[in-house]
Amino acid sequence: MRYKLLLLAIVVVLILPGGCLQKKEITADEEMNVFINALMKKMTPEEKIGQLNLPGSGDVITGQTTNSDIGLRIKAGKVGGLLNIKSVDKIRDVQKVAVEESRLGIPLIFGMDVIHGYQTTFPIPLGLASSFDTDLIEQSARVAAVEASADGICWTFSPMVDIARDPRWGRIAEGAGEDAYLSSRAAEAFVRGYQGDNLAKNNTILACVKHYALYGAAEAGRDYNTTDMSRIRMFNEYLPPYQAAVNAGVGSVMTSFNEVDGIPATGNRWLMTDVLRDQWGFRGFVVTDYTAIIEMITHGMGDLQTVSALALKAGVDMDMIGEGFLTTLERSLKEGKVTQAEIDKACRRILEAKYKLGLFEDPYRYCDPERSRTDIATEEHTRIARETAAQTFVLFKNEDQLLPLEKKGKIALVGPLADSRFNMAGMWSVAVDHDKSVTVLEGFKAAAGDRADICYAKGCNIVDDRDLDLWVSTWGIPTVDTVKTADQLRKEAVAVASKCDVIVAVMGEAAEMSGESSCRSDISLPGSQRQLLEALLKTGKPVVMVLFTGRPLTLTWEQKHIPAILNVWFGGTEAGNAIADVVFGTVNPSGKLPVTFPRNVGQIPIFYNHKNTGRPLGEGEWYQKYRSSYLDVINEPLYPFGFGLSYTRFGYGDLVLDHTQLKGNQILTATIEIINTGTYDGEEVVQLYIRDMVGSITRPVKELKGFQKVFIKAGKTKTVTFKITPDDLKFYNYDLVYDWEPGEFAIMVGGNSRDVESATVFWDK
Ligand code: BGC
Repeated sequence: MRYKLLLLAIVVVLILPGGCLQKKEITADEEMNVFINALMKKMTPEEKIGQLNLPGSGDVITGQTTNSDIGLRIKAGKVGGLLNIKSVDKIRDVQKVAVEESRLGIPLIFGMDVIHGYQTTFPIPLGLASSFDTDLIEQSARVAAVEASADGICWTFSPMVDIARDPRWGRIAEGAGEDAYLSSRAAEAFVRGYQGDNLAKNNTILACVKHYALYGAAEAGRDYNTTDMSRIRMFNEYLPPYQAAVNAGVGSVMTSFNEVDGIPATGNRWLMTDVLRDQWGFRGFVVTDYTAIIEMITHGMGDLQTVSALALKAGVDMDMIGEGFLTTLERSLKEGKVTQAEIDKACRRILEAKYKLGLFEDPYRYCDPERSRTDIATEEHTRIARETAAQTFVLFKNEDQLLPLEKKGKIALVGPLADSRFNMAGMWSVAVDHDKSVTVLEGFKAAAGDRADICYAKGCNIVDDRDLDLWVSTWGIPTVDTVKTADQLRKEAVAVASKCDVIVAVMGEAAEMSGESSCRSDISLPGSQRQLLEALLKTGKPVVMVLFTGRPLTLTWEQKHIPAILNVWFGGTEAGNAIADVVFGTVNPSGKLPVTFPRNVGQIPIFYNHKNTGRPLGEGEWYQKYRSSYLDVINEPLYPFGFGLSYTRFGYGDLVLDHTQLKGNQILTATIEIINTGTYDGEEVVQLYIRDMVGSITRPVKELKGFQKVFIKAGKTKTVTFKITPDDLKFYNYDLVYDWEPGEFAIMVGGNSRDVESATVFWDK
């Protein structure tokens, strides 16, 4: 109410300067500035610093917040927002303390890691990227925003867009993979989905692009490790997705834990001010990652006061958890180590976000108890989650058209993930109700009805090592069978499978084997799963492997021996139903890989858009003396970027370019015919790659520059057209100027990054 009156007063003052009526339209930004100027005039330096503080929610108990530790701090104006608190009751309770009991009644902002859905959980982001469908990604973020906002949350720490080319790194699961173009399109889609067209609506939430920057390039694929790369690589290959999110209007940015150019990102002024704000024009606020300011002490950047001042001066606005700002900035201000103007700038940016979210107008905007009953886990959301999941599965192999299965006879469903409710949602599902997740067994039974017998056996543990089992069940329950040995489990499964017509082996990682702090140096199927597969193959029955994973695994043996492999990542709450939809052919798989699958760990880092080197290996060659190759493995990955099969087959015609020579801003049209030569209707992700043959710096062998997902009926042909402009040829040159250079370009179109149709064009300036 207090703020409603203030807003009204501002409008009146602007309309009637000096008492006379003037018709002056004021922009929303001007209105916001007047409001925040007036508010900041009333704030003490301590209250301003308080706005920069983002603690955890602590021990909030509804009805008792006012006298809790966090309540007392809120009343004292020492809290700007809260992290990881959910439910309308709790949030309303806390907000009430801020609004009614702190001196200025400034509302709090409530942030949470809504990463791939809220209670209705969608596939992990790496899975979502496999859909190559930005509308689908946007829709999943929209559903997440509707549900999170119905539960009191107005800010999500998503999207994560760290380019990752090292599958040992567990957080590869959280991003869109290895490619800057695809990750940029995904970043925009997430931002659009969360923020919608008006942040002040009660069902849109503020997005936060993270982790700025380069977190995915951690050395040796070990979490939190050092990164070090040239600026050319940064700008061309790693930074574009963050910039895309900024261009899409993302309201906040999170710093990363790693260092960039020898300075931790959280204290890196070049990154947060020169690039993010001055070069890209970012206008929102910057929050640190969890305790990232304090961690700069361990990085070796000085004591808490020093690193806090460093972070503020570099461009950080909000300090997550560490309280370095809260406990040292006043002192630094007195000692002249930071300025009031720097604190004001940060405070203003946070107040602006609150203003844009409409929190000053109505601090309880996201606390509608009715919405919390009607808008979460709705039937509609469940339907969308199921359809979305099915679009993210990637078919690796399908010998003799083993898939789809007919719903008949006896189907053995074996494996440690076949009946594992907890693992369906995938890493980091903060609001999932695991009880509502559909297991593969349930999905199969529902799909088969009384037409086929589904015979289940666990067959093996996900991992057999007890310590590892504990480490990968921090948020769940350990799964190692303590009664039966691995041998017994395997024998049981073989007995079941021998009596069936076909075997579906549901294998892979536990949900918590990827995500934060879940790195692996051996990325093969864990535990004794391979032995189970061997035993199942010995039955002589056809084996389909359904693979759960949060990262590329090394599947060289599986590719050789298992007739059919369907990679399902972690599909979210509806995983079981969606897997049944695809396995039984209701949905024809169309997912494509957003990341390369290596043959072995030694090939890492391996990615499709590498440079050519001066001594590349010839096509199809394994090894050549004095050529860039390995003695013990070919250079080619197991599954290339963009790869994924369908139940049908797509044939590509010749690539036709409407010009062979162009000049300046002309547009090139590339056209190709695609024929569905199989017997199923299906969708194909048609991918456009470009190679700049000669440059002032070396250029990648190809780069994704466009994609289209097209539906083609069995036996029919579709013509796909890409329009290419000089913008698609641009890159950051040696002086970090973003421009294109004239010359020869190879234009390539295909169904994955390896198998392409190609044509050449000359483009003059
Ligand atoms: C993660 C972030 C996350 C934050 C808050 C950190 O450990 O790196 O991605 O947003 O915690 O939960």
